[in-house]
Amino acid sequence: MKIERVPLAEPDLRGQEGKYLAACVETNWVSSAGRYVTEFEQRLAAAVDRRHAVAMVNGTAALQMALTVAGVGPGAYVIVPDFTFAASANAVYHSGAIPFFVDVSAEHWSLDSELVEEVLARGDAPVKAVIAVHALGTPANMDPLRKLCEIYNVVLIEDAAGALGATYRRRPAGALGDAAIFSFNGNKTVTAGGGGMYVTDRDDWADRARALSTQARSGARYQYFAVGHNYRMTNVNAAIGVAQMERLDEMLAAKRRIAAVYDRALGNRGDLSPMPRPIWAESACWLYSVLCASRQDADDLVKLLSEHKIEARLFWESLSAQEPYADAPRRLNGTTHRLSGCVVSLPCSSHLTAEQQERVLAVLSQWRGGIIEDAA
Ligand SMILES: Cc1ncc(COP(=O)(O)O)c(C=O)c1O
Repeated sequence: MKIERVPLAEPDLRGQEGKYLAACVETNWVSSAGRYVTEFEQRLAAAVDRRHAVAMVNGTAALQMALTVAGVGPGAYVIVPDFTFAASANAVYHSGAIPFFVDVSAEHWSLDSELVEEVLARGDAPVKAVIAVHALGTPANMDPLRKLCEIYNVVLIEDAAGALGATYRRRPAGALGDAAIFSFNGNKTVTAGGGGMYVTDRDDWADRARALSTQARSGARYQYFAVGHNYRMTNVNAAIGVAQMERLDEMLAAKRRIAAVYDRALGNRGDLSPMPRPIWAESACWLYSVLCASRQDADDLVKLLSEHKIEARLFWESLSAQEPYADAPRRLNGTTHRLSGCVVSLPCSSHLTAEQQERVLAVLSQWRGGIIEDAA
């Protein structure tokens, strides 16, 4: 009997995606204008309780726009967690600023606000913004970060790439800073094939983001008010996004159900530690991940699962330790170094079946790793 592969996190396209894509073709609206782009923006803004949402080609572009419209550019530093995807730091460079890597807390794997305060208070780098990354779809501890940003007059931007649907003290991720971005690439709970969204309550920032992402054209003629970008989402991508948004609640519920099953099965093990669930957040459970005791254990676990046709993957590693970011300033506490190469993401597509998850759990029950000394 042929054993089916269990994928890590695949798009769940069981809604109206095909119908809406066909409508794009039938109506000839396949480019960067069209009703699905507007509808996607409206649905997203409503879902995260923001006045404005501006659709972009991807989350990286949206993050760069978030920085640019907030006045962050050459000469500025932006605090970025060391434990994040490269896009969070790359967007800072694309804006002309430089990332200042700050470590995460071992308790929740997001920015350590005490270290952020230390960097802001020391004041030897002109920090203009803080990017709070909601790692794995779980909101960072935003209250202390917001307070610090107010005191030091620094812009607070949420990198909520994988956190659509998450809440922090009952407020939606995306409504917790001055602005936020989301990603809709293929491994996100809500995908658009590719895409990103910039959200904010500020009319001036939203207007500028919309204009700069469409080449900063002044009117109907070929006249420009700035050096712009071609970052607008297409109607084709937005058609998928709208169909996905119609099923957001259903897909989120599935993600949380899958995470709860893993939590129950793995919670008492000493050799695998489920991703942190801080009390302030209801996670979107984007990518269910576990911490292993060592890099070797994590490699062995991925290999064992792969032998059973189950796709698992090592998660983020320290950015500041990598060659492209070698010159960036940093304030670290060893947490990201400890997590690097030891976090394994497990299959968690929203349409993962109970039988598929049983197969994953059966393999995990065969596996034995070293005991984790200081997971939190
Ligand atoms: C934390 C984080 N920020 C930014 C991005 C960039 O999003 P995109 O791939 O849409 O450019 C991602 C993508 O996975 C991400 O995980």
